Amino acid sequence: MARFVPAQAHIGAEAGTDAFRRRRRHSRRLALYLKLCRSANAPSPAMPPSSSSRSRPGSKSGYTHFGYEEVPVAEKARRVGAVFSAVATRYDLMNDLMSLGIHRLWKRFAIDLAGVAPGERVLDVAGGTGDLTAAFARQAGPRGMVVLSDINGEMLRQGRARLLDRGVAGVPLAQANAERLPFADASFDCITIGFGLRNVTDKDAALRSMARCLKPGGRLLILEFSKPLNGALGKLYDEYSFKVLPLLGKVVAQDEGAYRYLAESIRMHPDQETLKKMMEAAGLSRCQVYNLTGGIVAVHRGYRV
Ligand SMILES: C[S@@+](CC[C@H](N)C(=O)[O-])C[C@H]1O[C@@H](n2cnc3c(N)ncnc32)[C@H](O)[C@@H]1O
Repeated sequence: MARFVPAQAHIGAEAGTDAFRRRRRHSRRLALYLKLCRSANAPSPAMPPSSSSRSRPGSKSGYTHFGYEEVPVAEKARRVGAVFSAVATRYDLMNDLMSLGIHRLWKRFAIDLAGVAPGERVLDVAGGTGDLTAAFARQAGPRGMVVLSDINGEMLRQGRARLLDRGVAGVPLAQANAERLPFADASFDCITIGFGLRNVTDKDAALRSMARCLKPGGRLLILEFSKPLNGALGKLYDEYSFKVLPLLGKVVAQDEGAYRYLAESIRMHPDQETLKKMMEAAGLSRCQVYNLTGGIVAVHRGYRV
């Protein structure tokens, strides 16, 4: 079961009917959220990852990649956790610096493609500081529900603070591993994972878990770094990733290693076609790929039938 961290319903003293309505809405969402968790028949978090994909091609049995390093499968989640705990407080600033703000356009594209309608239920997996969650919460409105979920408590704490800074209240938070989501089958109209999948040890298990939690007709959107379509762009991007990123990490986040991991993990992530096939293998249909910035980033969208 996920650790449930209710977002603070409201900040400051507020009286009157607006506050009351907000609280009532929050309680309703909370009750719905708890119901989803209670009826979850997800496998127990204690279960080991499925053997089919514990290691990705290229890594020896029982081992997987942490960037370019080969580490025991059981070790990867801890190493990834340490990276994000170390950079959590500087995460948003670093995103803006590293991408010159372009990550906001990539996220905007994914948000538009998700097409969240008022009243829908949305799960943002590996949601971190909640950029996607905040947009979906506004779109789903008071009749809908958006859950911000992440494996890392420190990132979730930052996420909760950032949501409240943006005036988004009443979003339930769930500390959960994407590989074993603690929600009932067919709970959500839309599930997203933004720049999260490449950090997950067993990506096939995560895709199956997300597909399971979608309602029939529901959609999964994966926003992730991918493979540049053009060789010259790829070369330039490599120079930038391996020279500039670790330097920025060192100066701004005092963590060169975390940003070297970022560059390496992007190179180890499945390319556009491979990820599309993995989605299909997880039971998703009508899978499509949208390349952004020459394939540096791609959005994959698929539906549960
Ligand atoms: C690069 S951040 C992305 C945050 C946010 N979605 C965004 O786009 O800004 C990656 C997030 O994935 C989370 N993560 C890593 N492994 C995970 C897993 N197995 N399950 C769920 N979240 C995971 C990390 O804790 C981190 O918050």
